[in-house]
Amino acid sequence: TWTMGSIIEESVAAIRKQVGDKRVILGLSGGVDSSVVAALCARAIGRQLTCVFVNHGLLRKNEPEEVEEVFTRQFDVDFVHVHAEDRYAALLADVVEPEEKRRIIGSQFWKEFFTVAQDLDGVQFLAQGTIYPDIIESGARKTGGKASTIKSHHNLIPFPEGVHFDLIEPLDHFFKDEVRALGTALGLPDHIVHRQPFPGPGLAIRIIGTVTLEKLSILKDADAIVREELDAYNAAVFEETGERNSERSVWQYFAVLPDVKSVGVMGDERTYAYPIILRAVESSDAMTADWAKLPYEVLGRISSRIVAEVPGVNRVAYDITSKPPATIEWE
Ligand code: XMP
Repeated sequence: TWTMGSIIEESVAAIRKQVGDKRVILGLSGGVDSSVVAALCARAIGRQLTCVFVNHGLLRKNEPEEVEEVFTRQFDVDFVHVHAEDRYAALLADVVEPEEKRRIIGSQFWKEFFTVAQDLDGVQFLAQGTIYPDIIESGARKTGGKASTIKSHHNLIPFPEGVHFDLIEPLDHFFKDEVRALGTALGLPDHIVHRQPFPGPGLAIRIIGTVTLEKLSILKDADAIVREELDAYNAAVFEETGERNSERSVWQYFAVLPDVKSVGVMGDERTYAYPIILRAVESSDAMTADWAKLPYEVLGRISSRIVAEVPGVNRVAYDITSKPPATIEWE
């Protein structure tokens, strides 16, 4: 039978065989898949692995610190923290259109990544957190479901002129739940292994309109409260039902900052400030989603805390739309 231990041993042996004494580079996003690849490669080849963490400033509160902590203290890899926050802020300064935000953030990632990669000596391999469903999906999208070109997504990495790396994709046979089990067995913390889906463009697509440092700071603080309260709510449901994905638990939850202000009152003073929109959905695959029927007291606590603790916010609204016709994200 396949135990987690033997699966890890097999993967480690395969990585060692493929890599030999060469070096490997990996773009670490803080997400489940790239983190598990990093942990697996750390086990297999240790400091022959360089993890490049491109910090675009659009991750949630404390996330960059958490990623750095795990991959500098717990795993012995070569960890490069690229502080690209200012460059992203400048690139996004006047951008409103959601797909334009995505395009800029994605292409800048590869610029930042290859700037580091080209400076490292003797790197032959680029490790990727491709999982089995990614391969199926990209094949299905490109060919209408035919299996013949299912690896076409490989071509999506925009290698600069004259640059080439061989790919190593240790998770390409695994489904998401197997990847999580692997991560836990490798010692990754729950906050990474059970991280909820988070878009690559990060908080930029949860700020409607232009992205500014002020808005980012408001959204990070409000979002941290949403996560704290709903993490606790999910933990209580887990405690009661023993199921991580019980019908009552919330699948994805976050705050959105719209591009409007409204009038409020605080003490004797009129305020004119942003609202925060709470988004919380139940889903299994993100293709469809139901808005979560959260208890009023949980909603009330989130609202009271946000308006009390986050300067610049005077109102909280709950998005009670399912997907379709809405999407989970606002952009
Ligand atoms: P929507 O908003 O389309 O989101 O209902 C479905 C799921 O996908 C996530 N999402 C993204 N993930 N890059 C990503 O990696 C993106 O640009 C992106 N947009 C949406 C979203 O968080 C949800 O889980």
